[in-house]
Amino acid sequence: MPASSPPPVVRVSHLTKRYGPRAVVDDLSFEVAAGEKLVLLGPSGCGKTTLLKLLNRLIEPDGGAVEINGRDVRQQAPEALRRGIGYVIQQVGLLPHYTVAENVAVVPRLLGRPAAETSARTTELLERLHLPAARFAAMLPAQLSGGQQQRVGLARALAADPPIVLMDEPFGALDPITRAAMRRDFLELDELRRKTVVLVTHDVPEAFELADRIMLLNNGQIQQLGPPRELLLAPANDFVRRFFQADRLALQLRVLTLAEVLPFVAFDRKPAPGDAPALPPTASVQTALARLAEAGTDFLRIANAPQALTLGQLLAAVGRALG
Ligand SMILES: Nc1ncnc2c1ncn2[C@@H]1O[C@H](COP(=O)(O)OP(=O)(O)O)[C@@H](O)[C@H]1O
Ligand SMILES: [Mg+2]
Repeated sequence: MPASSPPPVVRVSHLTKRYGPRAVVDDLSFEVAAGEKLVLLGPSGCGKTTLLKLLNRLIEPDGGAVEINGRDVRQQAPEALRRGIGYVIQQVGLLPHYTVAENVAVVPRLLGRPAAETSARTTELLERLHLPAARFAAMLPAQLSGGQQQRVGLARALAADPPIVLMDEPFGALDPITRAAMRRDFLELDELRRKTVVLVTHDVPEAFELADRIMLLNNGQIQQLGPPRELLLAPANDFVRRFFQADRLALQLRVLTLAEVLPFVAFDRKPAPGDAPALPPTASVQTALARLAEAGTDFLRIANAPQALTLGQLLAAVGRALG
């Protein structure tokens, strides 16, 4: 193996879990690289939660193996293992009689970290997640909104600074606006950027926004594993194709870059206005449309393109690029 590719943080081989005669996780093999964001996607009941719980031994498999950092998880005590892996569960799961600060500090306390260090870390995380400690630290979970509780759940999972974080529908209980805000925070949080994350969702646009790679599951089996655009543009089978059908156009605008539509633009001879917003060719069509809407203009400049283009020209080019 070349020195440039570090060993995977998670290596799963032939992992199987049965309930009765049915394999709900069926002979799965895959790896997760350091710092990667892997999103498990699929219909309800396809085995996402079960797979996530097999990774940190909340559930024991019937066959196959999970290695974390090159070590079989069966060689590690489940409690020790789980302290090194942050886990955000589907129903948030805050302790109702603990304050916000106490909830966040649970794992660092278990690990015997110094109280002053834990307190500083808790304050810092709460601030970063838009829950100023001065106001929120002493509150009880019941006094918070659903979105605020989810933020506390995320802070708790990150408190001990685990290199791996597993998240099960972390934004699942939220209304669409709070959900979008949480996703933005997720993408901007430096804490998470460095970490290896395995995140479960059944929300297709969410998967496309957050994933380096998507694992699309059905009946406990991998239908396709790859970068979002690969699943969209080169589906491995009919299940994959159908799964993205309803969101296809929106997803295409998200994965299609300006560089890809540029060859299809019919430029005219009109001079470009100097104040047209400029975008790099690597920007997505969706980003370009958002910038145009924000700027309240019809003109867009792409670096290296011969001249500015109009919204109409852009949309016509997208139509041609998509055939
Ligand atoms: N403890 C259990 N006993 C029996 N069946 C289970 C148990 N946990 C999950 N299942 C079944 O396994 C399948 C996968 O469940 P789950 O992993 O929770 O799916 P998902 O998270 O993708 O919605 C479902 O059919 C579910 O009913
Ligand atoms: Mg689930």
